[in-house]
Amino acid sequence: MASPWKAARVRAATTTIFAEMSALAAATNSINLGQGFPDTDGPAFMLDEARAAIASGINQYPPGRGIAPLRKAITDHCERHYGLRYDPDTEVLVTTGATEALAAAIFAFVDPGDEVIAIEPFYDSYAASIELAGGGRVGVGLFGPDFRLDLDELAAAFNPRTKALLINSPHNPTGVVLSYEELEEIARLALVNDVLVICDEVYEHLVFDGARHVPLAAFPGMRDRTVRISSAGKTFSATGWKIGWALSTPELISEITAVKQFLSYVSGAPFQPAVARALNEGDSWVDRNRVDLQGKRDRLAEGLRDLGVAPSIPRGTYFMTTDVRPLGYADGVEFCRDLPTRCGVVAIPHQVFYDRVEAGRPYVRWAFCKEDHVLDEAISRLSKLRD
Ligand SMILES: Cc1ncc(COP(=O)(O)O)c(C=O)c1O
Repeated sequence: MASPWKAARVRAATTTIFAEMSALAAATNSINLGQGFPDTDGPAFMLDEARAAIASGINQYPPGRGIAPLRKAITDHCERHYGLRYDPDTEVLVTTGATEALAAAIFAFVDPGDEVIAIEPFYDSYAASIELAGGGRVGVGLFGPDFRLDLDELAAAFNPRTKALLINSPHNPTGVVLSYEELEEIARLALVNDVLVICDEVYEHLVFDGARHVPLAAFPGMRDRTVRISSAGKTFSATGWKIGWALSTPELISEITAVKQFLSYVSGAPFQPAVARALNEGDSWVDRNRVDLQGKRDRLAEGLRDLGVAPSIPRGTYFMTTDVRPLGYADGVEFCRDLPTRCGVVAIPHQVFYDRVEAGRPYVRWAFCKEDHVLDEAISRLSKLRD
C-alpha cells in the first residue's frame, strides 16, 4: 500500500521483482540464478589496489568528474578497444555505476512530454528514470522466439516528440548483440531524425562465439550525438563497487555532470584507482573471464536442453532465456514464483522488462555467471521439473 504522500510520478515504483526473487531465494535456500551478479571476484590486483587505497587514506570526496588517472584509463581503454578517442579532461564523467550515468543523462536531456525510444524488453532503471523525468518511453520490440530487433518498428517510432534513442547492446535480458548492419541502420535513423543517442554498453566485453561489440559512437556522424555509458561492474565482476562512466562531447558531459553533482556528488573514492588499474592492466583477465563465461553459458544451456527447454543461446551478457511453455506453464511469473519451492532455484520472468507484457509472458531469464558446481547443482535440482 502506498502512503498518502507518495508522489504520483513514482506511483509505479515499487519493490522490484529482483528484490522479491532474491528474498524468495534466501527464504527457501535456493540457488539464485535470478539477479545478475557473479559469485567470484574480479582480478586480485584490482581488489588489492582498493584495499591499499583505503589503507592509504583515499577515503574522502574525490573530484566530481572522477580522479584523473581513472578518466585517462577510461579514455585509453576506449581508444585501445574501439579506436574511439575522448579527451580525459572534458569528455568523461565517472558515475555511481552505469545506473547513475543513465539517470543523470536522462534527467539532463529529457523534458516532460519528450519521448525516449528504447529496445523492449528494457532494463528496469530506464522506465523509472524516464518516468521521473516526466518523459514517455516508446518500446521497440526485440521479441521472442527469435529476439530480432524490428528495424521497421524502430523507423516508425520516431515522431516530433522523440528526443532520444536509448540503445542497450549487448542486451539484457535477451543476450542479443546487435549486428553491424543493425547498428548501421540505427545510426542512420538517429542522424535522419536528429536525435540524441544514449548507449548502455555495460556488457561490452561479455561477448561470445567471436561476436564483436561495436559502439554506435564509432559510426560516421554519431560520436557527437552519442553518450556512451559503461561500468566496471560487469567487466571486472565488481557489481557492488558501482563505478561507471559516461563518454561524450564536452558540452554533453558538462550537462550530465551538472545533474550528477546533485544525485551523488561524487563516486566511490577508493574504488577509482583500482578500476583505473583494472582498465589499464586487466585485458587478459577480461579475455579469460569471457572464455570462462562462454563455458558456463554452454554448461547451463546443455542442462536446460536436457530438461526439454531449449534456451536461446546468447551472444553476449551473462543471461539466457527459455520459453517455459514446454514445462506446462503459460506464464513466466507463475513459473518463477513456483520454482524456489518446487526445485530450490530462482530465475527472473521476462515480462517485468516489457510494456507489452504479453510478448514476454512465457519467457524466463537465467543468469549463468555462477561457479560451475553451482550451475551443476541448479541443473540437478531443476530435474524435478520432469516429475
Ligand atoms: C543493461 C544494464 N544497464 C545497466 C546496469 C547497471 O549497471 P551498474 O551496476 O553499473 O549501475 C545493468 C545491471 O544489471 C544492466 O543490466
